[in-house]
Amino acid sequence: MHSRTALILVRLNGAAVLGLGLLFWAGYARALITLHMALGVILVLALWTLAGLAWRRDVSGATVAIAFSWGLVVPILGVVQLSLPSGNGYGLLRVLHLIVGLGVIAQAESLKSG
Ligand code: HEM
Repeated sequence: MHSRTALILVRLNGAAVLGLGLLFWAGYARALITLHMALGVILVLALWTLAGLAWRRDVSGATVAIAFSWGLVVPILGVVQLSLPSGNGYGLLRVLHLIVGLGVIAQAESLKSG
């Protein structure tokens, strides 16, 4: 995949996933969580594509490894949220999931080739 394609996927999916997430937070559209997850997985795959392409351009291994692990953390946080009753600690997880999610988009933007 070309890095341009991956970046477009990141931007489109990033906007949709973020928009849906904020709706859930506000208490709406919870029936669309599966859609949020599916678009989120595509977002992470696009991040990993950018990380793989960056690796070939000899961007440092650490940068690539951080991007790879970052992509694992977001879905884990989201799915852990699903398994918890709302209440203690749940608010913190929400904030973490949002911040780490925004980090996926930020990393993708910084991995793109100039
Ligand atoms: C593979 C990627 C992702 C998966 C599997 C995922 C999964 C989930 C799940 C299951 C929930 C519902 C949790 C609940 O309320 O019980 C959720 C909520 C949310 N997600 Fe994601 N998500 C992903 C990516 C993202 C990204 C990239 C962002 C932000 C840019 C984001 C922002 C949010 C927000 C703001 C909420 C609402 C918080 C809440 O009500 O709990 N998510 N996500």
